Amino acid sequence: MAAAARPDTGTGMPADLLGHARAATGFMPDDEGDLLHRLARRQLVHGPVLEVGTYCGKSAVYLGAAAREVGGVVFTVDHHRGSEENQPGWDYHDASLVDPETGRIDTLPHFRRTIARAGLEEQVVAMLGRSTTVSAHWRTPLSLLFIDGGHTEEHARNDYEGFGRWVAREGLVVFHDIFPDPADGGQAPYRVYLQALESGCFTETEHLGSMRVLTRVRGASGDPVA
Ligand SMILES: C[S@@+](CC[C@H](N)C(=O)[O-])C[C@H]1O[C@@H](n2cnc3c(N)ncnc32)[C@H](O)[C@@H]1O
Repeated sequence: MAAAARPDTGTGMPADLLGHARAATGFMPDDEGDLLHRLARRQLVHGPVLEVGTYCGKSAVYLGAAAREVGGVVFTVDHHRGSEENQPGWDYHDASLVDPETGRIDTLPHFRRTIARAGLEEQVVAMLGRSTTVSAHWRTPLSLLFIDGGHTEEHARNDYEGFGRWVAREGLVVFHDIFPDPADGGQAPYRVYLQALESGCFTETEHLGSMRVLTRVRGASGDPVA
């Protein structure tokens, strides 16, 4: 018997997964999530997708939905201890994410619940650790890299240089939280995005909200992008 068609959500996301993405704790507006999903659906046939900055799995549901549809795998890296802005006393602190035993942020169980509820455990593979530790050992060409980890200049630059080099020719780097105007948000990811453009390795091909999509136009996977 043929599978029943899924109702169209109007966003491109399968209806059953859109609810899970919306329900997950996180910072991804519907339209940016939708763009991620569309790009991943196009790119996954060429190789894996890697996300830096898992948090509670919201963006991973958008990416994992694409993997469920077209095949392929999404890797997502996080130490799950939160970024600077997630720590107590900062704007983006959420006390419900603190582990009462350690007193430290632990988003891993929240991520795990999000992905299990969405039924995406086969598509989304979590890597638990510092992004620099993982990128130092990473060797696989990527079809899409989504950078949404630490938002200091040091972290954003490490993520771009450490994983960006593994993006294949014609592959994509998607930057989140790009704010050219300091009144709108922090400038570190913006400066690293400018570095990517200035490298000549990438050209901007799409822009939505605070998301910038760059396509690799020079070099091959493994060649430095700094
Ligand atoms: C903005 S949140 C990610 C949000 C997620 N992409 C979403 O849309 O739901 C940033 C995440 O990056 C992680 N992070 C920050 N610096 C990191 C580092 N150096 N290595 C690994 N993870 C890091 C934090 O723990 C945090 O969960």
